[in-house]
Amino acid sequence: MKIPFHKPIIPKNLDNLFPDSIRSGWLTTGPMVKEFETQLSDYLQAEYVIAVNSGTAALHLALAAKGFQAGDKFIAPTYTFAATVEAGEYLGLDPILVDCATNSFNIDLDEVERILKKEKNVAAVIPVHFAGIAVDMVRLNILAEKYGFFVLEDAAHALEAVSNAGKVGNTFDAAAFSFYANKNITTGGEGGAVSTNDSILAQKIRKLSLHGMSMDGWGRYKGGGSWAYDISELGYKYNMTDVAACFGLEQLQHLQSWHMRRVEIVQLYHIGLKNIQGLVLPDQDDQLTYAWQLFIIQLKPAEWRIGRDDIIKKLNKVGIGTSVHYIPVHMHSYYARKYGWQALNYPMAQRLSETVISLPLYPALKDDEITYIIYQIKRLWEQYII
Ligand SMILES: Cc1ncc(COP(=O)(O)O)c(C=O)c1O
Repeated sequence: MKIPFHKPIIPKNLDNLFPDSIRSGWLTTGPMVKEFETQLSDYLQAEYVIAVNSGTAALHLALAAKGFQAGDKFIAPTYTFAATVEAGEYLGLDPILVDCATNSFNIDLDEVERILKKEKNVAAVIPVHFAGIAVDMVRLNILAEKYGFFVLEDAAHALEAVSNAGKVGNTFDAAAFSFYANKNITTGGEGGAVSTNDSILAQKIRKLSLHGMSMDGWGRYKGGGSWAYDISELGYKYNMTDVAACFGLEQLQHLQSWHMRRVEIVQLYHIGLKNIQGLVLPDQDDQLTYAWQLFIIQLKPAEWRIGRDDIIKKLNKVGIGTSVHYIPVHMHSYYARKYGWQALNYPMAQRLSETVISLPLYPALKDDEITYIIYQIKRLWEQYII
């Protein structure tokens, strides 16, 4: 069997994706982006959604629109994809990295609170809803109120997630989503969005997403409008295209059923793998809705005669694609060099990064493929148990 780590579901006939507006020649930001934003804002229960061309752009724009500047500090987890921290780096902000909470992939809020007590000028905290499991937003929002920082939720994994404070995306600060190729929905390989209930912030993000222009091309050309525009501040080129939005609109139609299939797959993994003592399986909390972007198993190294990397190789050999999420930010050479961080500074994140394996988790995954993956992991366990 050959099971890729990820396989998106895309329509057999791609022609069906594209409406007349595309065929008549309007390819970039226009009516399809507007429709995508409208549907997404309904789904997220957020007043405003600005669609952009990546999750990284969404994070960057939210920070830029708040006017944060070089020297301002932000707190983020080290256990995330580098983009979470990169977004602050673009603006010259100083990152303060925080380890994972015990038995969790998410940021340690006790440590965040300790930092807030002693550090002045923390402008923002960027919690990551890792793998689609929401951070304790009730607690973080209380801290935000007390210490007065901006909460930018990195919701790249968390489109469907509901936290203890409600739907992820429904916020008076901001949440950033990714529609990269292997996310729960994709806008044709790359894409992202920011959601917020703050109208001033939304307007600013929209403006900065297209060079700081007073009006976008569609706004100017539909109905023979004016050619004139002004650039009143420095912006970026982060707008989503209508072509990408068409892709996203088709994917949105399946969101509910794909989510249910993800939940089903997770149950099958849990049932199939629960008796393997050498593994820690992801937590489940019935009070929350997990987006299940990733299914990550952790190895207990003391129970195995081989290491994580060898297990990955052996799974690959029998046709099973896997991945590792992630190498923590502080362990990348750019960040280690710049800030002097050592691997050991963040023991939880380091341990996770050395012991985790992400298994295939996507709605196109078939039951017999899941059975095969479980069978192969069990076989390895029986062979290499200490
Ligand atoms: C946690 C996290 N944040 C941000 C991003 C950036 O998203 P994008 O690849 O759409 O720029 C990713 C992408 O994988 C991610 O996993």
